Amino acid sequence: MSLSDTLDVAVLVSGSGTNLQAILERFQGEPHPRVRVSRVIASRRGIGAIGRAEAYGVEVSVLPPGAPPSDWLERELTACGAGLVVLAGWLKMIPAAVVAAYRGRMINIHPALLPAFGGPGMYGRHVHEAVLDRGARVTGVTVHFVDEIYDHGAIVGQWPVPVLEGDDADRLASRVLKVEHRVLPEIVRAYADGEFGLDDEGRVRWNRPWFAGEAFRLAAGAE
Ligand code: GRF
Repeated sequence: MSLSDTLDVAVLVSGSGTNLQAILERFQGEPHPRVRVSRVIASRRGIGAIGRAEAYGVEVSVLPPGAPPSDWLERELTACGAGLVVLAGWLKMIPAAVVAAYRGRMINIHPALLPAFGGPGMYGRHVHEAVLDRGARVTGVTVHFVDEIYDHGAIVGQWPVPVLEGDDADRLASRVLKVEHRVLPEIVRAYADGEFGLDDEGRVRWNRPWFAGEAFRLAAGAE
């Protein structure tokens, strides 16, 4: 993709879609010259994310029950010309063929500091409950490229979030979510602007320096 093109983004969702909303607010309100959300793919009917997409006039596809997900997903992503696929609260495994076809072009956001508190079963409240049960004092947000293993691909960025006295899973989730809403649109922009990518060895390469301080600033600003 050349830097003068618009990046078509497909966002895959399974839940309320607040991360989708953050992306839509950033890029669809006033059309951003580099990024367009061209399709939202929902894993089932009736989820909050669908209404958010429709409010912005973005086409929504709902995974048909029983459809072969690999063929169906690939068809959908090809049809909307996705240059970047964003898993924003998507709970289904991505079939290996689709992972391979979109290697280096598919990212996921996870509400903890991977590799801690990730993997099968670690989604939604379960993540924050596990963080609290274990007594961790710092959690956060991870954005990573998607590979064949759940929550495992090369890490693009991480943002720390403190665990505070008296937190329960809901309070912690909402503190983490605020950070997610700041960082995910920023990472989509950075990808569109060619600031990072996945190299042939499967490592993330930033074309500008990645400062830890920048991550702390973005995370702290969300409080
Ligand atoms: C977020 O915490 C995201 O990190 C996780 O699922 C949650 C989705 O929330 N993968 P929402 O649907 O974006 O509101």
